[in-house]
Amino acid sequence: MKTLKGRVVVCAVALGVPVAAIAAELPKVDLARAAEISGGRCALCHGAEGDSSSPLYPRLAGQHHQYIAKQLGDFKSGLRKSDTMNGMAQDLTPDEMLALGVYFEQKPTKPREARDAELAAVGRFIFHRGNEYSGVAACAGCHGDKGLGTDRLPRLAGQVPRYIEAQLKSFNTRARTNDNEIMHSVASKLSELEIKAVALYLSTLD
Ligand code: HEC
Ligand code: HEC
Repeated sequence: MKTLKGRVVVCAVALGVPVAAIAAELPKVDLARAAEISGGRCALCHGAEGDSSSPLYPRLAGQHHQYIAKQLGDFKSGLRKSDTMNGMAQDLTPDEMLALGVYFEQKPTKPREARDAELAAVGRFIFHRGNEYSGVAACAGCHGDKGLGTDRLPRLAGQVPRYIEAQLKSFNTRARTNDNEIMHSVASKLSELEIKAVALYLSTLD
């Protein structure tokens, strides 16, 4: 995705199109409505700038709008189960879900600091190389070299480590009930140490 975007920018520069025009490729949505919903509800847990208000909640800032909108739809329909989020998404319309997605994707991101550099180094290895002895595929193969994801795959860079750990565990036990085929297979092969390590490493990316 990144190289693709990079290429688009290069071509556009050659054609004399301003780069800012390309960066603004997000769909037009009612951002004021999204800000209103977020301020009234989401910010309590996901933070005013979408950067999570506690280690318990995922960061939404920088996440792809398509992914956010899809998760909200899945929470609403019950396809993805969460005691908290199923209720939160109940009265959102598809337009509002998309608007919230764009609203959060635009929010600034920053990497987190890893207190344990050696553990993060183990995570770096798993992320880029996987574990050939247990059959863990390299995460970078799908989530991108820097964990930035794509319009079809979630961004992991800078995510709250405890949330990543929790999701990997729920993919493994199939407690995460939407689109879990691939990640169930990946997560079922990860050891506890690898989960901790890769979650920590991912949180340091930006
Ligand atoms: C009381 C706390 C709380 C509030 C308020 C809340 N959320 Fe959440 N949100 C969570 C938790 C906890 C999760 C993780 C759910 C899980 O474990 O699957 C989550 C997950 C999500 C996800 C999925 C993130 C991912 O990476 O897959 C999205 C998107 C989301 N919330 C959006 C929202 C929006 C939009 C609002 C406001 C309408 C909102 N949330 C309000 C607690 C909250
Ligand atoms: C073959 C492709 C593929 C590989 C390899 C892969 N993933 Fe994923 N991952 C996905 C897909 C697809 C999803 C979206 C699942 C969904 O929508 O429910 C996902 C979702 C996730 C999520 C949930 C993000 C969120 O915001 O809730 C985490 C965490 C994750 N992957 C971590 C990893 C880690 C760590 C590795 C390496 C050990 C890895 N993935 C390897 C395809 C992959």
